[in-house]
Amino acid sequence: MDRIRIRGGNKLNGIIPISGAKNAALPLMIASLLTSDTLTLENVPHLADVEQLLRILGNHGVDVAVNGRRESQGESYSRTIHFTCRTIVDTVAPYELVSKMRASFWVIGPLLAREGQARVSLPGGCAIGTRPVDLFLDGLQALGAKLEIDGGYVNATAPSGGLVGGHYTFPKVSVGATHVMMMAASLANGTTLIENAAREPEVVDLARCLNAMGAKIAGAGTSTITIEGVTSLSGARHRVLPDRIETGTYAMAVAMTGGDVTLEGTEAALLDNALEAIRMAGATVTDTESGLRIVRNGNGIQPVDVVTEPFPGFPTDLQAQFMALMTRSSGVSHITETIFENRFMHVQELARLGARISLSGQMARIEGVSGLKGAPVMATDLRASVSLVIAGLAAEGETLVNRVYHLDRGFERLEEKLTRCGADVERISD
Ligand code: UD1
Repeated sequence: MDRIRIRGGNKLNGIIPISGAKNAALPLMIASLLTSDTLTLENVPHLADVEQLLRILGNHGVDVAVNGRRESQGESYSRTIHFTCRTIVDTVAPYELVSKMRASFWVIGPLLAREGQARVSLPGGCAIGTRPVDLFLDGLQALGAKLEIDGGYVNATAPSGGLVGGHYTFPKVSVGATHVMMMAASLANGTTLIENAAREPEVVDLARCLNAMGAKIAGAGTSTITIEGVTSLSGARHRVLPDRIETGTYAMAVAMTGGDVTLEGTEAALLDNALEAIRMAGATVTDTESGLRIVRNGNGIQPVDVVTEPFPGFPTDLQAQFMALMTRSSGVSHITETIFENRFMHVQELARLGARISLSGQMARIEGVSGLKGAPVMATDLRASVSLVIAGLAAEGETLVNRVYHLDRGFERLEEKLTRCGADVERISD
């Protein structure tokens, strides 16, 4: 199993190309199930989660053609992929495939909308909370679907004339359930109104792609989305938006180590609240023509309190990385996690590097220390594992991050991108 060895202490200087967003690419790929024409996606990141979803889509009958392509002077390795699903050959998404990645459950929306039925295994994914699917089921029921849980699977059936437009108010904001509702309602009869919808940039990206395919979606990016159903969707060409979590992660890495890095091909607007937290913590962030330039501002790392919230609030997917940064702040900071109930597994690993963190319910209290010391640590989930990399970059001596497969799910060529900027990072394959 691969490990990553980091020898800490180097500043980061140079250019890091930001990849296409994993969390946008996954729902966009799933949208290819909605049409018999070809959906072409550009800037698809090369990640384990994307490969896994390609297998799942193949199982439903999607033909995939990949154009390898190096993009931009910074050489991002994202690819253009053509997806064609002439017919859906199987409406079952089996446990062996779905249990590996939660987002694969989202195929339930397109399968139900296009074929009138789906049998989809209940999902797996990162162990960061119970992560139920009740909102998906309630939402699909509002479109007329009949649902039952049987042997770990959800059996879903549309009315004989297909799904019907409906009205659903989310009791809690869910990114995935918003994606699924938009996809399913696009092919429903009549108009659907979704309230308290997720406002994440990835939701807007999916709506833009669906509209390019002929859907009639208005309001994505606000809490109220209206979808006028159409009888069929066509193919389209769409570019996956830049990864805001990767952007924020490298910005925090620079704030941690010091240096001067341009995050190429990304935008400040995608980060909103998180960028403000990074600025307050001690980095100067400027929007340049090629991307975001991050420079440590010379005042050291300042303690900043954050609370994770749905977009535009501080993202839960940057919580672990920000905690790593706060371990070196010059005071006490507090991080409150409101999205997932069990997303503090990185705390004990950061403590192995010398961090002083105490937990009380959903709040972590971080007392900044003057230095971290390298140690072997264990990656426990995708974002937690990259927080250990950030900490390792600033720690004295050698940090060995085990279970790197979590990182490979969501960070394209991480060690290469960091090494080019002067970090001493190496992958060790046993
Ligand atoms: C997506 C992101 C993930 C991010 C999360 C929150 C992808 C592939 N993943 O995950 O990286 O951390 O948004 O920004 O885009 N919930 C329910 N019932 C449901 C669905 C969700 O209670 O039916 C709860 C979840 O347990 C969680 C909260 O709602 O507490 C938010 O989850 P959700 O927004 O659905 O996360 P994902 O779409 O799975």
